[in-house]
Amino acid sequence: MPDQAGRSRRAAGVAWSSDIEACTAYDAFDTPVRKAAVVASAFSGIQPTGGSPHLGNYLGAFRRWAELQQPDHFYCVVDLHAMTMPYEPGELRRRTIDTATWLYAVGLDPDVCTVFVQSHVREHTELAWILNCVATKGELERMVQYKEKSRGQESVTVGLFDYPVLQAADILLYKADEVPIGDDQRQHLELSRNIARRFNHRFGETFTVPKATFPPAGARIMDLQVVDAKMSKSAQSPQGTIDLADDEDTTTRKIMRAVTDSGSEVRAAPDKPGVTNLLDLLAAGTGAMVEELEQRYDGQGYGTFKREVAEVVNGVLRPVRARHAELTADPAAVEKLLRDGADRAREVAAGTMTTVRERAGLLV
Ligand code: TRP
Repeated sequence: MPDQAGRSRRAAGVAWSSDIEACTAYDAFDTPVRKAAVVASAFSGIQPTGGSPHLGNYLGAFRRWAELQQPDHFYCVVDLHAMTMPYEPGELRRRTIDTATWLYAVGLDPDVCTVFVQSHVREHTELAWILNCVATKGELERMVQYKEKSRGQESVTVGLFDYPVLQAADILLYKADEVPIGDDQRQHLELSRNIARRFNHRFGETFTVPKATFPPAGARIMDLQVVDAKMSKSAQSPQGTIDLADDEDTTTRKIMRAVTDSGSEVRAAPDKPGVTNLLDLLAAGTGAMVEELEQRYDGQGYGTFKREVAEVVNGVLRPVRARHAELTADPAAVEKLLRDGADRAREVAAGTMTTVRERAGLLV
C-alpha cells in the first residue's frame, strides 16, 4: 500500500493533535518512543467484549499505537475471538462497532494505518485451520489463559481451546515484526512464534517470526480500588476502572474515591501503591516526572492532589470522548471506514494465503 504513506492525517481531527501532545509527554517519563517510530510492521488485536475500553488501555496502548502509526500497522477488533465465551449476538455486533469507534477516536487514522474487524477478512479463519494442523494439542493445553477460562466450566468450546491458534493466524497473515500486547498475552505470542517457526521449517520460509512489545513500566495503570490489580475491563469493582465512556463527573468521583494509603504524603513508595498509581497516572497525563510531582504536591494532602489528577485525566480524555461522540452519531460512516479497512487488510492477507496454500500442498 505504498500510496498511503504520503496521505494526510485528516480523519483523526481533534483527537490526533491532542495525542501528539500526550505522547510527547509519554517520552518524558519513559523511553524515547519516537526513536522507533518508522521501522517495524505491527499488528495488534483488541477484543470487543466486557464494556468500553478504559484509561489503562488508553495510556498503556492506544495512545502509543496512535503516536507510532504508519501504513503497515494493522489494528483489528477480534470479534471471532469474542465468540469463544458465552455471548449474545446483538451485543457482540454493538460492541464490535463501538470498540472500532474508540480506536478511531484515540487517533488511529484510517488514512495512515489499517483498522478493521477480524471477521470481515475470511483469511483469518482459513489460516487458523491450516495452523491447527501445525499446532499441537499439548502446547495448547499448556496455555494459562485457557486453563483459567475453562476452570470450573461445565462445557468448554473447542473455540476457547483453539483461541491462541486464531491469534497466531491474525499476526502471521500480516507478517508483523512487532506485536504490541499486554503482559497477559506473552504466552500466546510465544506460541505464535513457535507455530511460525515450525511452519517455516516444515514447508519453507513463509512467515515472519513476530516479536512482542510491551508498554513501558509507568504506563501500567492499576485499578483504583484494588491497587495490586491492573486496571481491567473485568475488574470486580467498576469504581476502580475509568472507562473511556465515563462522563467527566463520574471520572472525577472515581478518582476522588480512589484508595489511597495511610498518612497524607504524596509520595511514590512500595508501601503506598494507591498514591503511587495516581502519581503514575498524573505523570502519564502531564509528561512530568514522578519526582517533580512529589515536590509539587509536598504538604498539600490527598484532596488537592486527587482533584488535580481528575482534571488532568479529564483533560486528556476530553478530545477522545468528543471524537467518539461525533463518530457514534454516524455509525454508517464508521461502518464504511471498517469496510475500507478490511479491503486493505484483505489485500495483504490474501497475498500471504496464496503462498501458504502453495507451500502447504493445496491445489492453487
Ligand atoms: N488475545 C488478545 C487479548 O485478549 C487479543 C488478540 C487477538 C490479539 N488476536 C491478537 C492481540 C493478535 C495481539 C495480536 O488481548
